[in-house]
Amino acid sequence: MKIGIFDSGIGGLSVLHQAMLTLPEADYIFYADVDHVPYGEKTREEVREFVDHAVGFLVNKGCQAIVLACNTATSVAISYLRDKYKLPIIGIEPAVKPAVEHNHRKRVMVVATPVTAGGAKLKNLIMRFDDAHVVDVVALPGLVRFAQNDEFDSQNVINYLNNELAGYNLNDYSELVLGCTHFNYFKDSFAKIFPDDLEIIDGNMGVSNNLRNTIVKNGLFTDADKGRKGSVEYYYSDRKVESGAEMEHVRKLHERLERMRKI
Ligand code: DGL
Repeated sequence: MKIGIFDSGIGGLSVLHQAMLTLPEADYIFYADVDHVPYGEKTREEVREFVDHAVGFLVNKGCQAIVLACNTATSVAISYLRDKYKLPIIGIEPAVKPAVEHNHRKRVMVVATPVTAGGAKLKNLIMRFDDAHVVDVVALPGLVRFAQNDEFDSQNVINYLNNELAGYNLNDYSELVLGCTHFNYFKDSFAKIFPDDLEIIDGNMGVSNNLRNTIVKNGLFTDADKGRKGSVEYYYSDRKVESGAEMEHVRKLHERLERMRKI
């Protein structure tokens, strides 16, 4: 079976990384829309247009299911895409529910892009689960730029986070929800500035389990898939990633994500 995994940039690699562990039998096409990143600072109309194009590209490549490995794209375009296509479309949303369930009377911080933070989808999610009003939402668009520039654990990143979070008492928080897939690269930096017992919650395991279940439920997991090891192709916007230098870069990103997965 062939699965398309899509993000505006390298954030979605964190979803691909987990999906390859949870569903290793699949062939993946990973699409990073690097020509248009960052989505989180564009208008909703612009984002929808970019997502529409990228998903069309993946469908034309023969993908039988699509994962929107981008909270911003999910917030803006998932209903539109589900209306347009018959194949399964799996989105990612900030994991507000588990965070509220785990929070031991402390506060929950959701960090996301400005589009996700200001969108109705996140507001509705918080309204459904945050009865005790313990959830705060903070937009951190600078992290998307740092990630796309391969700057992950520098003093600049720490200064940026300290600056953006200066108005919050970080000791009040026990849960940090990563509401943007790019933020997975910064788990070590978040861990440095928050209290030691902070739980960092990303949606990667949830989405990957959801993907596996959806594939099975839709009859896309065939006998021929059993025990096989699938392949991965990478695309930057519509261009296939082929050069040795670019593939080496992707390998290094996976290496970092493997370290971050364990935080
Ligand atoms: N990685 C994306 C997300 O999960 C968006 C980053 C961006 O392009 O602003 O929201």
